[in-house]
Amino acid sequence: MDLYEYQARDIFEKYGVPVLAGITADTPEEARAAAEKIGGVVVVKAQVKTGGRGKAGGVKVAKTPEEAYAAAEAILGLDIKGHVVKRVMVAQGANIAQEFYFSVLLDRANRSLLSLCSVEGGMEIEQLAVEKPEALARVQVDPLTGIDAAKAKEIAEAANFPAELVEKVAPVFEKLYRVYTEEDATLVEVNPLVLTAEGAVIALDGKVSLDANAEFRQAGHAALEDKAATDPLEAKAKEFDLNYVKLDGEVGIIGNGAGLVMSTLDVVAYAGEAHGGVKPANFLDIGGGASAEVMAQGLGIILGDPQVKSVFVNVFGGITSCDAVANGIVGALEQLGDSANKPLVVRLDGNNVEEGRAILEAANHPLVTLMATMDEGAAKAAELANR
Ligand SMILES: Nc1ncnc2c1ncn2[C@@H]1O[C@H](COP(=O)(O)OP(=O)(O)O)[C@@H](O)[C@H]1O
Ligand SMILES: [Mg+2]
Repeated sequence: MDLYEYQARDIFEKYGVPVLAGITADTPEEARAAAEKIGGVVVVKAQVKTGGRGKAGGVKVAKTPEEAYAAAEAILGLDIKGHVVKRVMVAQGANIAQEFYFSVLLDRANRSLLSLCSVEGGMEIEQLAVEKPEALARVQVDPLTGIDAAKAKEIAEAANFPAELVEKVAPVFEKLYRVYTEEDATLVEVNPLVLTAEGAVIALDGKVSLDANAEFRQAGHAALEDKAATDPLEAKAKEFDLNYVKLDGEVGIIGNGAGLVMSTLDVVAYAGEAHGGVKPANFLDIGGGASAEVMAQGLGIILGDPQVKSVFVNVFGGITSCDAVANGIVGALEQLGDSANKPLVVRLDGNNVEEGRAILEAANHPLVTLMATMDEGAAKAAELANR
């Protein structure tokens, strides 16, 4: 889960990372009040989960509360790379002397952590990496030892910070690393980390991604979720513990096991090329135990997507054998009644496949077409979606 800047700011503060005052506002009036409260020059910042807000007009300096009102009015409702701004943060203005870059992230390829750091921040990091790769230090961080005082110093020196600045930024790096491990993050990025004219080092922008696999031990993280922004079907699937991802296409997909569902997506996308370019509408893995109830929940979610024109159920019977899955489908269609209203192509294989197919044939449901192979099933589902 990616956090909004204001959420990252609050977490930074909790760990003693130096940040400036920041108050969120959902209306220009609230922004004016926030600016009054903070006093002096403020910066009104769009709260959207994408970078490059500054360039897109989502970060504006305001010298008075009235200017903050006007800035918020201009920023709220703005579309930044497909994200519509619903909230701004009114932040205390910093007197910037220099901008730096710091991040720590999970480096899956090297089974390690990685810190990226540069004394030349402000620019987007992707651009810096391309245009001035020598200015971007990449320092491996052993997750067992982390970023202690010595490692923080090593990172700052690798990034060419002058000695007097190393002393100032290294303790901030240590604190940001504490945020990374103690919050179970996969990314903590500060761009820019600034040196103010007064000589203070401050995190002016923060990007934090939290590891959803750690939810069980991070009780506070659920509250950070932006429920209004998550797709309602995804939220419903999560409630049922189903692995569901909404995609743009027309063919709903249900399978058991992530590998099978992934290859089903490929096969359907390929089959769709011959049928008007239809594509998979979602990823839904109902897991090993495809009981009638789980099947009904899965089907209910997919049929609830108005973009879905047909559904392809592709199941390989293993621990839950094909007859149980077939009973699950029949039971699900009964449970759903009239809300099941789109053609369903079913391909079963594996354990007790004959019994499973016999159950579906006997049920003879008007919406169900049984196909023998995955390729045939995908082609049929694509054809039905294109009608
Ligand atoms: N509180 C602040 N005070 C002064 N300048 C700021 C402040 N916050 C951001 N800025 C300036 O705006 C630029 C862009 O803001 P930032 O928060 O990094 O957004 P983004 O990375 O999405 O463009 C920063 O590089 C900095 O120069
Ligand atoms: Mg930034």
